[in-house]
Amino acid sequence: MKLQEQQKTPLFAALKKYVEDRTVPFHVPGHKGGKGIAEFRSFVGENILSIDVTSGLLDLDSICNPTGVIQEAEALAASAFGADFAHFLVNGTTSGIQAMILSVAGPGDEIIIPRNAHRSVIGGLILSGVRPVYIKPVIHDYMGIAMGITPESVRRALVEHPNAKAVFVINPTYYGAASDLRKIVEIAHSYGKPVIVDEAHGAHLGFHPDLPLSAMEAGADMSAVSVHKLLGSMTQSSILLVKSGFIDDRRVKSALNLTQTTSPSYPLLASLDVARKQAALKGRKMLESTIQLCQRTREELNEIKGIYVMGSEIEGTEGCYALDPTKLAINLRGIGLSGFEAEKLLKYEYHIQMELSDLYNVLAVGTIGDNEESMKILVNAIKDIAQKYGKKNVIKITAEFPENQEMVVSPRFAFYSEKRVIPLEEAEGEISTEMLMAYPPGIPIICPGERVTKEVIEYAKILRTEGCQLQGTQDPEARTLMVLADKESVKYYERIKEVV
Ligand SMILES: Cc1ncc(COP(=O)(O)O)c(C=O)c1O
Repeated sequence: MKLQEQQKTPLFAALKKYVEDRTVPFHVPGHKGGKGIAEFRSFVGENILSIDVTSGLLDLDSICNPTGVIQEAEALAASAFGADFAHFLVNGTTSGIQAMILSVAGPGDEIIIPRNAHRSVIGGLILSGVRPVYIKPVIHDYMGIAMGITPESVRRALVEHPNAKAVFVINPTYYGAASDLRKIVEIAHSYGKPVIVDEAHGAHLGFHPDLPLSAMEAGADMSAVSVHKLLGSMTQSSILLVKSGFIDDRRVKSALNLTQTTSPSYPLLASLDVARKQAALKGRKMLESTIQLCQRTREELNEIKGIYVMGSEIEGTEGCYALDPTKLAINLRGIGLSGFEAEKLLKYEYHIQMELSDLYNVLAVGTIGDNEESMKILVNAIKDIAQKYGKKNVIKITAEFPENQEMVVSPRFAFYSEKRVIPLEEAEGEISTEMLMAYPPGIPIICPGERVTKEVIEYAKILRTEGCQLQGTQDPEARTLMVLADKESVKYYERIKEVV
């Protein structure tokens, strides 16, 4: 990466010029610089609406076929993130994940995927017709969460599924656990398979040496990166990074153009341009402070009786090769509160909004936007909660994330099959045609095509009792589930599975 070049923000500069030139707009969007939506403009300000223009205008390039300032901005991003190509995304990492899947495999093909993948992956499987070969992530018993995958599990899956088209890795998980990605890449490449990576929670990794390796550093072939989550750009703005070799970037672009809008938000695109510049020029220094701040906060939280915040002690264990220290996964088992209860207390009593809660934990995401003050507020609130609401070592819940579901038909086959709706509680043994999950984190408890087990039904019941809102099903309350109407269709699937 040439630092001098990284000073430039070609896309942002072109937008500012458009405004400075006092260009008279006879194009969409119809608010025309905010004049057509005065109430909104008076709150959000004029500037953001003045750059809210559309794709294909002279000098402002087009997202579908960039040849001007978007292309320049993407090239700078590729260089900053250590990739050969970068594609700006305005529909989040979700669209990047789906494009990765669509560009490496097709109907009936297989991809090796950790079972704790995000719902966007299941969407990608349904769109592409790719069949997942699920591998089990390692479970952290005390935290009750899924961690990374081991290189050995990847090797085993490759031996058992020699025709799989790619290996999919999450780097790192929502809770910050990174697998040994370099080793996984080495293994996958030795079998001639590309590695595609979900870096929704890893945009910052490549910009500080004390963080786990980024996908590009580890030699992976593609990575979908939520710049909006951890590097300061606006919500929904992500980047798809590509390395040549195993991947044909032209195919990636075609896949992206299948699902992405032709009217991308220029404020989002411009925020990517500026976030990339900031990361390239100041990322290391900013992240140094963030890491230090989060480490101090972790130590202070760990001093509270009954509270445990996962830290470097788990590095090098089976499910965690390296941990992102900016993630503060705060476990409340020792004070007898569920994460859901703690999240509500934090929000309604202390006006603190956490990133997510689960049965045992609340997760605070530390970023370059945090400071001593925000962390102090969090530590004091957790101290207060432990004192006021702690239930003296009552370990209340003991539910484990259900494992070993059997995938009977592919997600796509399930999605397009005839269905019937039944109460979730009566679904044992049936084949689900939809996902069911707590969101966030958005990891399906059941995926389309899987047989519903007693454990799944019990786990969903416990989540609900503890105050978690389940989703993913057509029934907004997830009390019913759509299952395969005719189990005989499984025989038909067996005959056609390699071609659909
Ligand atoms: C692990 C993981 N992958 C993918 C996504 C999708 O990213 P985005 O929200 O940028 O579409 C998320 C979102 O939370 C996620 O947690």
